[in-house]
Amino acid sequence: MTITPPSPDRQRRLLPLAGPHGSRSWATCFYRCGNACDHPEPNTSGNEHVSEVIENAIRRRAFLGGSAAAAGASALVVSGLVSPAAALGRGQDRPAGGHGRSGRTAATDGWTPVEPNVRDTVSVPSGYRTSLVAAWGDAVVAGAPAFDPYAQTPEGAAQQFGYNNDYIGVLPLDRQHALLVCNHEYTNEELMFPPDTYDSATTKKIAMASHGMSVLKIQRQGRSGSWKRTSPRASSYNRRITASTPFELDGPAAGDARLRTTADPSGRTVLGTLNNCAGGTTPWGTVLSGEENFNQYFDKSGALDSRYTTSYARYGITGTGSRGWSEVDPRFDLTTEPHEPFRFGWVVEIDPHDPRSTPRKHTMLGRFKHEGANIHIADSGHAVAYMGDDERGDYLYKFVSADRFDARDTQAARRRNLQLLTRGTLYVAKLTGDGGTVDPATNRFVPTDGEWDGTGAWIPLTSDTTSYVAGMSVADVLIDTRLAADKVSPTRMDRPEDVEPNPVNGRIYAALTNNSNRGTSYPVDEPNPLGSSNTRPALGAALTRQSGNRNGYVLELAENGNDHAGAAFTWKLLLVCGDPESPETYFAGFPKDRVSPISCPDNVTFDSVGNLWVATDGNVLGSHDGLFRVPVAGPSRGQVQQFLTVPVGAECCGPLLGPDDGSVWAAIQHPGEGGTYAAPTSTWPHTHAFPRPGVVVTHRA
Ligand code: FEO
Ligand code: CA
Ligand code: CA
Repeated sequence: MTITPPSPDRQRRLLPLAGPHGSRSWATCFYRCGNACDHPEPNTSGNEHVSEVIENAIRRRAFLGGSAAAAGASALVVSGLVSPAAALGRGQDRPAGGHGRSGRTAATDGWTPVEPNVRDTVSVPSGYRTSLVAAWGDAVVAGAPAFDPYAQTPEGAAQQFGYNNDYIGVLPLDRQHALLVCNHEYTNEELMFPPDTYDSATTKKIAMASHGMSVLKIQRQGRSGSWKRTSPRASSYNRRITASTPFELDGPAAGDARLRTTADPSGRTVLGTLNNCAGGTTPWGTVLSGEENFNQYFDKSGALDSRYTTSYARYGITGTGSRGWSEVDPRFDLTTEPHEPFRFGWVVEIDPHDPRSTPRKHTMLGRFKHEGANIHIADSGHAVAYMGDDERGDYLYKFVSADRFDARDTQAARRRNLQLLTRGTLYVAKLTGDGGTVDPATNRFVPTDGEWDGTGAWIPLTSDTTSYVAGMSVADVLIDTRLAADKVSPTRMDRPEDVEPNPVNGRIYAALTNNSNRGTSYPVDEPNPLGSSNTRPALGAALTRQSGNRNGYVLELAENGNDHAGAAFTWKLLLVCGDPESPETYFAGFPKDRVSPISCPDNVTFDSVGNLWVATDGNVLGSHDGLFRVPVAGPSRGQVQQFLTVPVGAECCGPLLGPDDGSVWAAIQHPGEGGTYAAPTSTWPHTHAFPRPGVVVTHRA
């Protein structure tokens, strides 16, 4: 079985801006997620969708009537925009001002934003400089062969920097050295291999070795924010993790019958990690990584196991349209190894400081299409992991550890902390809108209290000892987490990508990247449900059921009482992305003529003063993707400014500021996607005549 790219005609049909694939090339959809948008939403639970929640945030009180509510809304401006003043004063922390080595960094500098563009380069503001730190094929492990596209081998690829870098972690060793940890989410065979050079089996083995993660020692250049790789021979940390590296399954579901295979009758040892998307660096110095679109890696040679029909369907496991890996590794044949897909879809944890450690898959954090996982230590000391399931109509989750983080710098504390993600409670989120009304001044629906917001509840699914879902055991809930969550009526979301706690203000920011199947137009003049001539505000229309969510949005969640281990939160819309000139966009009330256009938020991170940084994937506004700074406090709250754009065909991944905000990291994923090795559309980073995914660091010149 071999990968067969779509015909030229089908590629064209995958491409149109108004179609389900947005601006993504056919290759992005085909190779990364197996054309997930072409398939019906796997969530058929009928649970309330976030678009309905947002409608309720706009409309619910309108049904109830009430002149007081209307009066309360009269100060609001048109189209649902809230004045900057209205957006402030709600307990937001203000930025602490200058911070970092020099007191001037990308976090606090008043740089001039990068204009939207389609250049085949990484563009940054004047006064900043970008350098390439690592690219596909660079030596990671001592003895790795020099990169040669015509002499690739599976053994060599397993020693070199993998393909399609996504998450970036930088773990300082001392003031001048650090460990760079990267995910390698997937491979683009059409860009990796010169035509007629390799046989099918070899390309598959190289692709498997080019998945996974890399650990590299890096060195700061003088006192700058620039970093370079050290020689692999000078580092005992350097390491490649691939689709064949042994992992230990831990937590309550480890050893379950559904996790046992011919090669692993114990159900506790899995070879490899797949489709590692985003991640998180833990307070105890390890890196978490999310196994995302794992369903696309499995073939079938015959019938599928009827015991798992419901589960397979809920996870999009069909045995078709896959990468054909069963040709070289029989465990990827569902017909003969029906349990192998249950061994993927987990959050994995690696300890970069211990290159001999066995990486682990934490069953306690549930099995779904994990975007990533990011930890906040609650005031109580419990470790809380926030997570999104990146699928149209799937859910937000959090995990709260049973044990407390030990902040002491001792080996005993480290051993304890390494067990934090094995015991605790897994929750799923339900959101409720708090209502809106009709503004008599504008005759439009507006939110009653000046915010598109509401309340939320974390619904417990299971602890490590007790399931809270009727008819499902602890292991059932953890292995079929989507099916368990369906039963407790959480809120279906618009493809939750990164869900990360802001270390400065404690709030959680969730990127809902887009929902390309949900309509294509904005019926801003739709009659309101009261039957009068009032019209629905454009903002609400952008996110409601009947209309599209083409450009994505960002939710801001606040745990009640800032108790991250608690069960209740509030939420509000921070950004509705798009062209600022479009009526549906919203930037937390910041003046729209002073923001950069932004489309399809994906990965998020924070600088040391609490600004949100958003990387995008799938810009539908005619520019390349990029990286944006967004203050979330003070008078600049909502001021989206573009710091960086990426080359042709690429998305911007793994954003990170650090250490000390002096270095801005970005993973340039799939440059040139849409072209081929023989007919490239990008040659970034311009080391060869074809593109190479790579990690860059930007710093003050
Ligand atoms: Fe791999 Fe959800 O992006
Ligand atoms: Ca409200
Ligand atoms: Ca992502």
